[in-house]
Amino acid sequence: MKKDLKYYIETWGCQMNEEDSEKLSGGLKPLGYKRTTSKEDADIIIFNTCCVRENAEQKVEGNLGALKKLKKERPEVVIAITGCMMQQEGMAENIISKFPFVDIILGTHNAYKFTEYLAKALGGERPIVEIWDKEADIIEGAVIDRASTIKGFVTIMYGCNNFCTYCIVPHVRGRERSRKPEEIVKEIQDMVAAGYKEVTLLGQNVNSYGKGLEPQIDFAKLLRKINEIDGLERVRFMTSHPKDLSDDVIKAVAECDKLCESIHLPVQSGSSRILKKMNRHYDREQYLESIRKIKKAIPDVALTTDIIVGFPGETDEDFEDTLSLVKEVEYDSAFTFLYSKRKGTPADLMLDQVSESAKKERFNKLVEAVNEICAKKNKEYDGKVVEVLVEGESKSDETKLTGRTRTGKLVNFTGEKSSIGNLVNVKITKAQSFSLIGEQVQ
Ligand code: 5AD
Ligand code: SF4
Repeated sequence: MKKDLKYYIETWGCQMNEEDSEKLSGGLKPLGYKRTTSKEDADIIIFNTCCVRENAEQKVEGNLGALKKLKKERPEVVIAITGCMMQQEGMAENIISKFPFVDIILGTHNAYKFTEYLAKALGGERPIVEIWDKEADIIEGAVIDRASTIKGFVTIMYGCNNFCTYCIVPHVRGRERSRKPEEIVKEIQDMVAAGYKEVTLLGQNVNSYGKGLEPQIDFAKLLRKINEIDGLERVRFMTSHPKDLSDDVIKAVAECDKLCESIHLPVQSGSSRILKKMNRHYDREQYLESIRKIKKAIPDVALTTDIIVGFPGETDEDFEDTLSLVKEVEYDSAFTFLYSKRKGTPADLMLDQVSESAKKERFNKLVEAVNEICAKKNKEYDGKVVEVLVEGESKSDETKLTGRTRTGKLVNFTGEKSSIGNLVNVKITKAQSFSLIGEQVQ
């Protein structure tokens, strides 16, 4: 009997990469490949890489090194590396010289061609290295094998035009290209027909969606179109650049019933001086003004953010500005990062790099402040009844179900298994630091 064909895929980095991996899976499924969580019994091993911070790259290299033995024992296994890390100049050559057993290397723009490269590799043509430098046209119609059957990502635009001085993304993902609204709406309608209840719209800067499209459209208008899709229950989006967050978008979130009361607005730093060096095009006051507008227009909104600690030239005072901003905004949660030098970015060449010890000390202080606020915000849910989209059984406690509120809070609760995939009301009985506990109510 023919053995089942299996593939293993590991994804580092952001939601864009997760969606790219779902497209890679979508290409392999019709060929009869099934996903496995064990490298040992895989016929294809794919690493979808990230390069936004150095430690992401180190992890990939560590994992590749560990494949040497496997490839020696089973040379027929196809090893493929894709994603942002490969899109950097000289990286493919570097990988091939360090790990000559890799079979396929491709970039972010041509991952949709993966099955073509696979056919060639299986035909004996190895290694295949194909990184496209130019910004690829948007390819519609790729099959996406989504991780969940209840909620899913929908990319609305690719690339970024902003060139924040620390960031490698515009160098590897190219300039902004927006998908046509009708393609986006159709994709979401198809998802709804397949039973999906929630979508998260993805882009490096969704607020500048629509540039260059005819007829003219902007992000607020797209949100309103999506809000009209019958059967869809919830819409989220990320990431928003504060400089482009328009009043129209805030108004759309306030007025449209499907748009969740949850906004991710990366601040990066609370110091106007550092924000200028980061090339963010807003200062502390302008950011706080946007936050005030959001809070006024959308009561009970959950705010989340990204913060970088230890950007070149950051002094104790600058860092105190970040801490005070965090306390003023009261984020529901925050992704906190140690600044990481990236080759080819302006910040890499700045002479006033912050010492690792100062970075770590500030980082720990920031995490402590963020966690304290997060726990306080969760406490506000104690005793409340909230709407939860039930995603499945809880991983930590089999007797419970798990899902999220419209504000993105994770809730583990006792309830009917039959409600998986539906919206239910849950009474919060205990607020923990990072999640809520509750019981389903009628
Ligand atoms: N070092 C640390 N964090 C970074 N980010 C982007 N580039 C870097 C870097 N060089 C963070 C930003 C961004 C998030 C996705 O990653 O906070 O919003
Ligand atoms: Fe990077 Fe800035 Fe673009 Fe975000 S907006 S991807 S941080 S350059």
